[in-house]
Amino acid sequence: MFDPTAEQLELAQAVRDFCHAEIGPTVKEDDEHERFRKELIGAMGAMGFCGVPTEESWGGLGLGYLDYVVVLEEIARVSASYAVSVAVTGLPQIILRMFGDDAQRAQWLPALAQGQALGAFALSEASSGSDAASLTTTATRHGDDYVLRGTKLWCTHGGVADLYVVMARTGGPGPKGVSAFLVPGDAPGLRGGKKEEKMGLRASPTTEVVFEDVVVPASSRLGPEGTGFRVAMAALDSGRITSGAVATGVGQAALEFSARYATEREQFGQPIIDFQGVGFMLADMAARVDGGRLMVRRAAWLRDQGLDYGQAAALAKLVATDAAMAVTTDAVQVLGGNGYTREYPVERYMRDAKVMQIVEGTNQIQRLVISRQIKARYRA
Ligand code: CAA
Repeated sequence: MFDPTAEQLELAQAVRDFCHAEIGPTVKEDDEHERFRKELIGAMGAMGFCGVPTEESWGGLGLGYLDYVVVLEEIARVSASYAVSVAVTGLPQIILRMFGDDAQRAQWLPALAQGQALGAFALSEASSGSDAASLTTTATRHGDDYVLRGTKLWCTHGGVADLYVVMARTGGPGPKGVSAFLVPGDAPGLRGGKKEEKMGLRASPTTEVVFEDVVVPASSRLGPEGTGFRVAMAALDSGRITSGAVATGVGQAALEFSARYATEREQFGQPIIDFQGVGFMLADMAARVDGGRLMVRRAAWLRDQGLDYGQAAALAKLVATDAAMAVTTDAVQVLGGNGYTREYPVERYMRDAKVMQIVEGTNQIQRLVISRQIKARYRA
């Protein structure tokens, strides 16, 4: 059912060719030096990879979410950092398509879809992570404008984004007091703060973002006041599918590398894959990657069909990212001492996989979302 179509295979091949030629040679060095190359997003945007599900009339490829996850998985096989960049630039596009008006879409969608503008999603704060509704950044109405004050944390593309979707408080405490705003990266008073030195995803910049009396017109608010939490949650439902896709790509890369290694590396006179302990480990890795991939594709397919996908997205994110962590850890084990060195890519896969269990809602939050839906469904 989720076998790729001929068009998807062609698209995946184009992504693979691009990533191997343009991103592959930079990966090791950029991981070491935490370097992000914005121009690579521009190049991927020119190929259509940054706006896969965005309508052609808004500058995208006009394909489905199923095509989108295939693209993200391919990018992640080479670089999780750039796959996350594409996914995070995709998030404001999803939000604009779901909640924006035509003027907002016209202003931002084509540039984001074509990789000419980098997107960011500013929700988390120092004291508001899993408890997203407790955010304290404020947006105060002054005539036709809002003035934003506060500091966001863990923002992918912080300081380099052209557009931030910012969740800020316009009302009282809790989710109903939150509104969402489109804030240009060059708005006076907006600046990238402290850059995080991360374990993984090191070619993807993550920073604080400071809003010091940033003035935006009321027309940059997404939907009515008080609906920002719903905007954020709906965006995360989609984002969680893409996190699963990125994790699947990382897991697939780890599986491929360690499987090849195990067929070449000989001990006790035979390739180590012929020892059942290693062969079975690879079999479990293949099962985990495939299981995650199928769940990601099912969630994407449900979304494409216009069916409920929130629960499927949380399940896919949970299973695919836990799979990636287990598989990349096992890949290091298959390579033994070599796996623990920077000479081989598997230690990077392991570092990159770890964050996928944390972003877009920790896997504990996914369990919370899933268990709440189970309770609602099976309540006696
Ligand atoms: N879609 C639409 N609306 C939703 C929704 C969804 N998926 N989930 C909840 N809502 C609505 C609810 O219906 C409710 O509205 P009503 O009161 O009108 O019914 C309102 O939102 C509040 O919902 P909850 O009572 O469920 O809210 P909560 O405070 O209990 O929080 C939560 C729920 C699931 C824990 C949520 O806070 C959450 O997802 N937390 C994790 C945050 C997160 O994922 N952060 C990641 C940030 S982005 C990132 O990682 C980095 C990056 O660069 C992308």
